[in-house]
Amino acid sequence: MKTPNMKAIVYKSYGAPEVLQLTEVARPTPKDNEVLIRIHATTVTSGDIRLRKADPFAVRFLFGLFSPKLQILGHEAAGVVEAVGSKVTRFRTGDRVFGSTGLGSGTYAEYICLPEDGALVTTPTQVSDEEAATLAVGALTALHFLKQAKLSAGKRILVHGASGSIGTAAVQIAKSMGAHVTAVCSTANVALLRSLGADRVIDYTKEDFLTVDATYDAIFSTVGRTSYAQSKALLNKGGVFLTSFAAPSDFVHMLGSKLFGGTRVIGGGAPDGSADLEHIRSLMDAGQLKAVIDRSYPLAANGGSAPVRGAGPQEGQRGDPRRRVGDHTAAPLLTMRLRILLKDSGVTPR
Ligand SMILES: NC(=O)c1ccc[n+]([C@@H]2O[C@H](COP(=O)([O-])OP(=O)(O)OC[C@H]3O[C@@H](n4cnc5c(N)ncnc54)[C@H](OP(=O)(O)O)[C@@H]3O)[C@@H](O)[C@H]2O)c1
Repeated sequence: MKTPNMKAIVYKSYGAPEVLQLTEVARPTPKDNEVLIRIHATTVTSGDIRLRKADPFAVRFLFGLFSPKLQILGHEAAGVVEAVGSKVTRFRTGDRVFGSTGLGSGTYAEYICLPEDGALVTTPTQVSDEEAATLAVGALTALHFLKQAKLSAGKRILVHGASGSIGTAAVQIAKSMGAHVTAVCSTANVALLRSLGADRVIDYTKEDFLTVDATYDAIFSTVGRTSYAQSKALLNKGGVFLTSFAAPSDFVHMLGSKLFGGTRVIGGGAPDGSADLEHIRSLMDAGQLKAVIDRSYPLAANGGSAPVRGAGPQEGQRGDPRRRVGDHTAAPLLTMRLRILLKDSGVTPR
């Protein structure tokens, strides 16, 4: 029997958003240990943009020297289980689920197969697919780092880059751990961070957090805009510096703290695990972790490239592409911070 097709956004070469093309490809078939998910919502993340542009160049060594080996982007999704492999026990057809593809990708499509023991859990009833889709990668990464900070009531943490996908999750998860949270962001996001529960918000366009009279048990640099060397004076004794996007000098300190001890400097990649995603699910269920969504686009909008090009944020406003980490060009792009959702509206298969 011929495998049915599905719609997907495919990129066959690295480059600007124009490389993304909405097309038809074969629908995947689940292996024994996999579930086939019909995707209702996915996101555009900073990771997708790095892969699309092969930025930094080292991306090519891992994901294809001349062209991308995995031609469908997208690392997190929410939807419904359409079919299960013969050995699957955790999920049943019809379950609402959300999760992450880990190092793989492929959620810019109508369907994806994911292993049942990967970062995949059922979606809480009161949480929409759009919300769930935004809370896999950012929240998993935030939780991975925050667990290592061993936060508890009364501990103080500063989250730098607090308005991004990792940052917004980090602020809420740190609050759920009982910590006092200081969030650093731009003016446009001050109210957002307050609404997420930050105890103190520092607008970096008006105030340098380094000069604010306060110290912390943990500093979490989510977007690489501060380094351990810059901020170590603000760390209390026994404090920890966490970074999901290490500045070059951080690598030296990460190695040093591993080899010689002293202040812990922790970076690297966050593993994808269903146990951590269960924790995130329970926070969502308890209303302690909420999705932050700037805007949504239909899958037919081709990965958000067209709307961002045509009606994107203006310079200086929230979402200004030129202020996105790792992307300083004025070219149209899929922004890193925007939790752009690619809803399935308009591309529902017959
Ligand atoms: N280690 C891992 O496992 C892992 C996993 C996922 C992602 N990452 C990496 O982590 C980084 C952050 O990811 P993300 O998804 O959270 O990014 P994101 O959603 O694109 O967030 C970017 C944020 O950076 C903030 N920002 C921009 N300039 C700033 C500045 N000068 N000072 C402070 N904040 C500034 C922006 O907020 P304002 O508008 O308020 O400035 C924006 O909200 C990316 O580089 C990504 O590749 C690492």
